[in-house]
Amino acid sequence: MTILGIETSCDETAAAVARGVETRHGASVEILSNIISSQIEIHKKYGGVVPEVAAREHVLKILPVINEALEEAGVGRRDMINHVPTIAPAIDAIAVATGPGLITSLMIGVETAKTLAYAWNIPIIPINHIEGHIYANFIGANPKHQAPNSKQISNSKFQIPNIEFPAVVLTVSGGHTLLALMKGHGDIKTIGQTRDDAAGEAFDKGAKMLGLGYPGGPAIAAAAAKYQNPKHQILNKSQAPNSNDQNRIILPRPMLNSKNFDFSFSGLKTALLYSLKKDKGWKNKIPEYCCEYQQAIIDVLISKTIKAAKKYKVRTIMLAGGVAANKELRSQMPETIKNKLPDIHFTLPDLKYTTDNAAMMAAAGYFKARHKKFTPWQDLKVDCNLEI
Ligand code: KG4
Ligand code: ZN
Repeated sequence: MTILGIETSCDETAAAVARGVETRHGASVEILSNIISSQIEIHKKYGGVVPEVAAREHVLKILPVINEALEEAGVGRRDMINHVPTIAPAIDAIAVATGPGLITSLMIGVETAKTLAYAWNIPIIPINHIEGHIYANFIGANPKHQAPNSKQISNSKFQIPNIEFPAVVLTVSGGHTLLALMKGHGDIKTIGQTRDDAAGEAFDKGAKMLGLGYPGGPAIAAAAAKYQNPKHQILNKSQAPNSNDQNRIILPRPMLNSKNFDFSFSGLKTALLYSLKKDKGWKNKIPEYCCEYQQAIIDVLISKTIKAAKKYKVRTIMLAGGVAANKELRSQMPETIKNKLPDIHFTLPDLKYTTDNAAMMAAAGYFKARHKKFTPWQDLKVDCNLEI
């Protein structure tokens, strides 16, 4: 089964084609194409995403992006009118993000998907954006992309992610910080979430205060990597903010010891603001501020995830979302799990499937399509506050 994925929740116009792979070790997908048109350069000058501008860009890009995804996957047709194949391409269903996200942005992807499903007479699969992020973990890896009609995939060469249920999933993005318990495909329940800012939002707002621009996550990570003080690094990893080092910048780890699985990052942002106000020389210490700010976020994320994994006695811990692109989080999380819960398996998406993309939508779509979870295009609705 071959799925076209479409994603337009925020500021990336994305389309991808995925083909289902069934092996005796389980199901997975192979990504045949993954096209993303990013609007970052456009929104940078405003310091964040401007919804109206985002929607207009999606309108301009959606059909060329879908066309490129079909062509690259080898499932498109050459006879096009205004980028729309006049003959249905060799795909079986369309998976599209219907929420949560920016309403006008979501509508472009959803209305396009409805139109194509109608024109091509194929079913449609609505995908929750967060669920899409989670399914980035289920994408398999084939060393080579193969066109659909080329020789069969060799299963021995195709790597299926090792995911055993139950699993605890930490999804961290610009809009969400969510801990979920996943007992099986389609069985995902929220066990904790942020009470205010999302982790990615904390990165973005912190970066703004430090004058580092948008998007803040990569900017903070890059500046933090320049901070070379080994003493500071060791203290960070010990998760002990109360050190005797008088000159060390210390920021709080909000809700680190709370009994629930919720998060809060707005206090951390305020703490950074007050620290900067008090420190006349902060501009000379940007890498150190970034290092401590990034570590405060990472400490809370890892600690809560470990606590949830212990409580629910899970077999797997999964990481997902745009903040999963963070190099320190990607290395510290498995390190801590290995030390504290050596029997629990850890998975995280390939770097290119962490921030918004349509490959993860197509992947989530395949797992729903296997169970015939289709929606008639007439019933497809955008829900900008859609919950998991
Ligand atoms: O999942 P995503 O692409 O969009 C949403 O669904 O929100 O996540 C975007 C978020 C932004 O807040 C961005 O700053 C953050 O992910 N991000 C990072 C990194 N790369 C992207 N945060 C920390 N470190 C990174 N390397
Ligand atoms: Zn996202």
